[in-house]
Formats: sequence, structure tokens, C-alpha cells
Amino acid sequence: MVSILAIESSCDDTAAAVLIDGVVRSNVVSSQVVHALYGGVVPEVAARSHDSEIVAVCQQALTDAGASLSQLSAVACTQGPGLIGPLLVGSCFARALAFGRRLPFIAVHHMQAHILAHFIEPPVPSFPFLCLTVSGGHTQLVLVRDYLDMEILGQSLDDAAGEAFDKAGKLLQLPYPAGPHVDRLASTGRPVFPLAKPHVDGYNFSFSGLKTSFLYFIRDQKAKNPDFIEENLHDLCASLQHRIIEVLLTKLSAAAEATGIHQIALAGGVAANSGLRSALQALSRDKGWQVYIPALEHCTDNAAMIAMAAYLKYRAGQFDDLHQAPDPRLSWLGTTPIR
Ligand code: KG4
Ligand code: ZN
Repeated sequence: MVSILAIESSCDDTAAAVLIDGVVRSNVVSSQVVHALYGGVVPEVAARSHDSEIVAVCQQALTDAGASLSQLSAVACTQGPGLIGPLLVGSCFARALAFGRRLPFIAVHHMQAHILAHFIEPPVPSFPFLCLTVSGGHTQLVLVRDYLDMEILGQSLDDAAGEAFDKAGKLLQLPYPAGPHVDRLASTGRPVFPLAKPHVDGYNFSFSGLKTSFLYFIRDQKAKNPDFIEENLHDLCASLQHRIIEVLLTKLSAAAEATGIHQIALAGGVAANSGLRSALQALSRDKGWQVYIPALEHCTDNAAMIAMAAYLKYRAGQFDDLHQAPDPRLSWLGTTPIR
């Protein structure tokens, strides 16, 4: 029996999960609401909050799974990328636990885990597939050849898709994180405002120009009508969301065409966006793609995905050194397929 306790603490969610023989038995997330006061994540506050939550969250994950520390086969955590303070809390806790219990330690790449969330429950994509990972910190288009054999085809050069939602939403005075609010308001709006369309070569993404054009557009309109935002909030959200989705799906279509791969997966927090989900479903009907979107709780940050990635590394015999510190800018890990 393989039992893994996994911890996720890369940003503002303290999360722990227990996975037994490939099945997620518990998935606990404590989201830090305190950051809404500041309009964004305050790294030091996030680290302190992880520190005070982590023991209770891990205990809850073990209790929910009906498991005990003595049953564990390995301890895993997010190694990066993410905020260094939050990462350090999860990593120090995980490594100390592994050391104390004489258990193997497994370090997981947060973005690879978002992709491997597809293997938590069926239907699962078959290899090779393309995964569009859209989170708060990164946007990536990845060719997934095997569980641990992935290649980044393109990624965000500046702001990620989630950041575009959050920063543009902040200009509309929406609370942090603005993404879900934009989603809700956009559902009853029309995409009538012409926002800049970013042009970037290849499969890379850039959203900072869109955010700037949104800023100037709002500033100019407010100079003419001070109530412009209030009177057009739904249409502004719909226009913003429409443009972001268009950029994402244009790149995804180009990659699907160039590779001939029609197994398409969506991952990351922005995969919770209802407009993106339905636009992708519609496009897939046109193109004959098979589309995979994880359950909402496996799209936003969670430890079940870290546990799944750790289980796959465990099966492949890939363990990590207890001296390995977390890395806020962690590059893509290993490309060794499971034999
Ligand atoms: O993957 P995630 O939970 O954390 C990171 O790894 O960054 O993604 C968080 C991002 C935030 O930017 C949040 O605004 C966005 O996902 N998000 C959404 C929605 N739900 C979460 N964006 C648009 N529509 C949503 N429904
Ligand atoms: Zn994430």
C-alpha cells in the first residue's frame, strides 16, 4: 500500500491531502481571506498564515482519510514555483515530518501538478495530450507525452491569464481575487467594448498590454462619464473575459493543428471560468476534440494534485533530497517517463 501526505502552500491556500494507492482519500484547503483587505496577496502575511494553519490542515487531512502518520509511505510538498515565504513553510514542515518519521520526501512542481490533477478521477486524457494551464501566476501550453514527460510549447511572458482577470477586475473596483467576480458579472453582459488584442509570436502569451489598454479605455471613458464603470460593469467584464478567452483558444487551436493532437485538457484556477469552459466545449465540438476539464476543486490550488503528482513520482522511483530547499522560480522538473 502506498500512502502519501501532500502539502500545497505556494500562494494563499494552505492545503493538505492524503492519497492511498492512487486514490485521493482527503483534500483539505484553508483559503486565506485576509488578502482581500489589501487587494492582493501579501507574501509575508501569507507565510505567517500558512504557519498557523498547517498543523491543523494536515491533521484534518489525515482524519478525513482515516489514516495515521504511522501508515504513511512518503511525504510530499510543492517545491515551486510560488512565493518563497509560503513555500518555505510547507517545505520545512514536509521535510521535517519526513525526517522525523524516516520517510521518503517528494518535491513536486506546482504547474506539473495542475496538469496531473487530470488523473485524480475519470475521465482521464490519453497520451499524448495538450494541456492549457491557466493559473494566477502562469499561463502555459504544454505537450504531455507521459505522466512525467512534458514539454512547454509556450507560456506567459508577463502577466498570466489569472493576473489579467485580477488586475483588470481591480480597475473595476472588484474585490480580490477578481477572476470569479468577472466571471459572474460577464454572464449577463455583452462583449461590446473593443479591447486591445495582444500579438505574440508562437505559442507564448502576453496579457500586460491588454491590462494597460483596459486601464486607458476606462480612464478615457470616465473622463466623459464618471459613472461609466457602474453603468457598464457587466459589459466591461464580458469584453475583458471575451478577449482573454479568445487569446487562449487561438493559441490552443494553433497548437492542436500543428501537432495533430486532439486530446485537449484545461487546468489551473482560471479553468474554473464558466465562459472559458463553455467556449472550449463549443470549439471542441467544431474541431472534433476530446476535452478534459477537472472538477472545480482540482482546478484551483489544492493538495490532491500535489499528492497525485507525488504518487506518480513515487511509482517512478523519483525521490528528493531532504536538503532541497524550495525554489520560487523552479524550472520544469524531470522528463523521465514511467517505465
Ligand atoms: O491555479 P490557481 O488557484 O492559483 C495559482 O496557482 O495561481 O489560480 C488562481 C487564479 C486567480 O487569478 C483567480 O482570479 C483565477 O484563478 N480564477 C478565475 C476564476 N476562478 C479562479 N478566473 C476567472 N474566472 C473564474 N471563475
Ligand atoms: Zn496554482
